[in-house]
Parts: sequence; structure tokens; C-alpha cells
Amino acid sequence: MPQTVLTLSLFRQLIALAGSIAILIVPGSGQAQQVSTPVTIDSGISNTDHSGVISTLNAMGPTSTATNAFFQSLGTNGRTCFTCHQPQNGWTITPNDLTRRFNASLGQDPVFRPVDGATCPDADVSTQTARLAAYSLLLDKALIRVEETLPDTGLEFKFTKVTDQYNCTTNTKFGLTSPTSGDVSVYRRILPSTNLRFVSALMWDGRYPTLARQASDATLDHAQASGIPSDGLIQSIVNFESALTTAQQADNLAGTLNILGAQGGPGFLSQVAFQPGINDASGRDPTGRAFNRNVFSIYAAWDRAPLTNDPAELQRNAIGRGERLFNTRQFTINNVAGLTDNARGNQIQGTCSTCHDTPNVGNRSLPDFLDIGVAGPNPPGLDVSYLPVFQLTCTSGIQSGQQVSTTDPGRALVTGACADISRFKVPVLRGLAARAPYFHNGAADNLGQVVGFYDRRFRIGLNPQERADLQAFLQAL
Ligand code: HEC
Ligand code: HEC
Repeated sequence: MPQTVLTLSLFRQLIALAGSIAILIVPGSGQAQQVSTPVTIDSGISNTDHSGVISTLNAMGPTSTATNAFFQSLGTNGRTCFTCHQPQNGWTITPNDLTRRFNASLGQDPVFRPVDGATCPDADVSTQTARLAAYSLLLDKALIRVEETLPDTGLEFKFTKVTDQYNCTTNTKFGLTSPTSGDVSVYRRILPSTNLRFVSALMWDGRYPTLARQASDATLDHAQASGIPSDGLIQSIVNFESALTTAQQADNLAGTLNILGAQGGPGFLSQVAFQPGINDASGRDPTGRAFNRNVFSIYAAWDRAPLTNDPAELQRNAIGRGERLFNTRQFTINNVAGLTDNARGNQIQGTCSTCHDTPNVGNRSLPDFLDIGVAGPNPPGLDVSYLPVFQLTCTSGIQSGQQVSTTDPGRALVTGACADISRFKVPVLRGLAARAPYFHNGAADNLGQVVGFYDRRFRIGLNPQERADLQAFLQAL
């Protein structure tokens, strides 16, 4: 893990920028102290991450963790929401922190619970060695097992073959009871419990209508509560998580991200306007505006030829160029279910911002679910050999007779529709540097692999400089 050093000047800049807000800097974050819960979550929290400093603003003001239900154990296994959603990891958790927690607790920290931390609830966790195997996906990729019951009506496909090295979907107790009934286990990245104001679809597959319902089910499933928590407790969780805004605040090379005309960091983000459908490429913007492909505009001021050889300035220019590439580099987007189905030749011309359309946030502003190929058994340049493979055969609807292989049926587990197989939401692109690995299945270990995937999948033809620029931009979000 790269060690980040907070220079004194960077520290001073941060303090200056913090102004009246109390910002707590935790250098080398994620050491043993992360196993315990802080006494208060301040109005501002900053931690070092992979490429600089990640910051969260908490609009509730200093919040006592003793009294907010987000930090309370509401179930039977010792877990709280904070067990899996922590600020130094962009309000998710990452393999590095998990390894530290495993070592510090000999694999007993509440995150290591068989229910969904293990590859299957009946995995052997009796010894340290057994626990290393049982929690391998959590430790290596920070993946949580998500068990979904197939819908009893409207299912348009059957499972014709399941290759499951963890024997969970193939297990009669936790898995399928027939090719068309029972439960399916998929392994997914924890989504950030921050920037929720912009989120148009909850969970990777959009299965929850509201944050309240999400919090209630999280308590029953992850924390194994015996009953639904009270409305008051749910409200206090939703109030807290809804008050958070998170973004990268400083870059190790470029310095503070909101100087010299730039608007990085959570301060600007907390003021960004949003409504579902804002800036929609297919003409569904409720304000009637035409789609503006310049989705990100926070680093436009840095997109100019360098005037000196100062490494900080060179990095700022790279970030500015990366933003322009994200907005304007055109390529052919082909065979993306949910986006190109009705286009001639099943393809359109677009940019990164065609799908990531919410201004200065980067998720999709409408609850659309897309299949970009990450769930396939062989996504270009990504290794997903650690995942089970499901072979599905469509039994009704227009795709009847068609066979599809996938490592996660995605949205189709909610709707039962063949057309929804392997489709996922387009996530928020803020706070990325703090929360590798990426994609719903953690298949990209770093942002370089994300960019490499897109370059191959859509034959963009990025040169090494362009790849580096895009990466510099993404890690400054
Ligand atoms: C064991 C780890 C774990 C615990 C504990 C946990 N979560 Fe999560 N959380 C996840 C995972 C995994 C996902 C994504 C699952 C998916 O999309 O299928 C998620 C998704 C979410 C999302 C969706 C964000 C989005 O963009 O759609 C919210 C909000 C959230 N969790 C809040 C909570 C709250 C509130 C609690 C406590 C009641 C909680 N979580 C407890 C693992 C956890
Ligand atoms: C065709 C639509 C589409 C295009 C074009 C697109 N994306 Fe994505 N992006 C998605 C979807 C859908 C996901 C989630 C996929 C998944 O995890 O299954 C995603 C995920 C990501 C993630 C991972 C976020 C996370 O939290 O794990 C990053 C980073 C990203 N995209 C960057 C880019 C960049 C950079 C480009 C341009 C080179 C781009 N995207 C082009 C649809 C798109």
C-alpha cells in the first residue's frame, strides 16, 4: 500500500480551507484505531487515501456516535452501519482496512460474520486458517455476499448451469431449489453511504425504493436483527447518511483541489443542484434543456498548457485534461443493454459522460440500468475468476431460447426480465481514490484497470498520456 505523506504546506492549506469547520486529520488512516468507532463525527472529516486526502462534510454538525443509530448495534451480530461504511474509505470499506481489521481481531471483528461476510453462511470459520478461506472475497476484494430470492412471478429465464466454487447458490439450504426458484448468491462491492442526495437508484440493482427501506433491510440482513427497527431509529440513520457529502480534497501532487479556479472537494459538491433526469442525453431532462456532454466542469480552469515545470502545476494540468477527455473524447458505444438497444446497429457515438450524466457528480441521473460487460465471464482486461458463473436460458419474452452466461444477473434478479440480465446502475464517481476496487464485483483493482477496461471494451484507442490524464482526473474526484 502506498504510504501517503501529508506535507506541512498541504496540512496548512487544508486548515486554511477548513475555515470555521473543524477538520480532523488522521494521517496514515486506517490503522488499528479504525476498528473502534470515534466518539463524534465532526462537521468535517479528512483522511489520507491512495492519492491524497478524502474529505466529508457532515451537514448535521458534530454528531455523537453514541446517540445516532448509524453507529449502534441494532441486530444480534455486533454489526452497525459503520462496520461497513467508514469515512476513510469513502464510506465503504476496502481490502487494506479489512486486512488490518482481520489481523487486529484474529478474524473476529464484527465485519467477519458468516451471514454475508463469508462466501457462504455455512463456511467453516472455526480456525484462523478456515476464516482466511471463508472470508477470502471480503479480504481480497471487499465483496459482501448478497442473497436474492428469485421473483415468483414474471421470471423469464431458468438457471441451466451454475459453476459455484463456494457451493452457495448450488447449496440446497441457501441456494436454488429448482432452475426457477430459490436464492442466488452474488458478491458485490459496498456502495458509499454518502452523496446520497444524487443517487437515483438504490443498490447496484435498484432493489429498494427508499433509504428508510434500505436501512431497515440492512439491519435485518447484515446485522441479523430479530425485528424491524423503530421508525425513530431508521429516521436517525437516514438523517445522518443524507447529511454527508464526500469528495477528494487534496492530491499528493496537485495539492488542494479547490484553488486556482478549480472546484474540487466536498464544499462545492454540497452546493451542486440535482433533480432526477437533470441533463439526460435521451431528452428526458425535466427542465427541457438539451444534454450537455460537459458533465464535469470543476477542473476546466486547470485545462491549459503548463507554464512551468512545477510538478504540482503539471499534475493540475493533467487533471484538467483528464476532465476534458471524460467529457469530450468520442467513441463508439456498442451492445450496451439499456442504452443502445434501440439504436441502429445497436451502437451510438458517445463519451464517458453519455452514461455518467449527472453534472459534477457522474452517476446517471435517472434510474437506468446498463450492461457494459463487467458481469460477463471474461470482461476485457479484468480477472473475474473468483466469481461463480451462472448460465441462464431465456424461457419467455422476445429473447426466448437465448443463452447468457453471467457472474451476476444484476437487475434481472429484481425484475425477472431477460432483458435486464447483467445490468447495473451507473454509480456516483466521487471519492473514488479512497475506495478501490471498482465496479460492482471489484474486478478493477485500481483506476488504471478501469480506464484499461473501457479502452479495450469500446476500442477507444487512448494513448498512454490520455490514460494517465483520465486516471489523474478520476482520482481527483
Ligand atoms: C456487512 C456490510 C454492510 C453493513 C453492515 C451495512 N451495509 Fe450498506 N451496503 C453494503 C453492500 C454490500 C451494499 C451494496 C449491495 C448491493 O447493491 O446489492 C450496501 C449499500 C448501501 C447503500 C446504497 C447506496 C447506493 O448508492 O445505492 C446504503 C444507503 C447503505 N448501504 C446504507 C447502510 C445502512 C444505513 C446500514 C445500517 C443499517 C448499512 N448500510 C449496513 C454493505 C453493508
Ligand atoms: C455505456 C455507459 C458507460 C460509459 C460510456 C462509461 N461508463 Fe463508467 N460505468 C457505467 C456503469 C453501468 C458502471 C457500473 C458497472 C458495474 O459495476 O457493473 C460504471 C462504472 C464506472 C466506474 C466505477 C465506479 C465504482 O464506484 O466502482 C468508473 C470509475 C467509471 N465507470 C468511469 C468511466 C470512464 C472514465 C468512462 C469513459 C472512458 C466511462 N466510465 C464510460 C457506464 C458507463
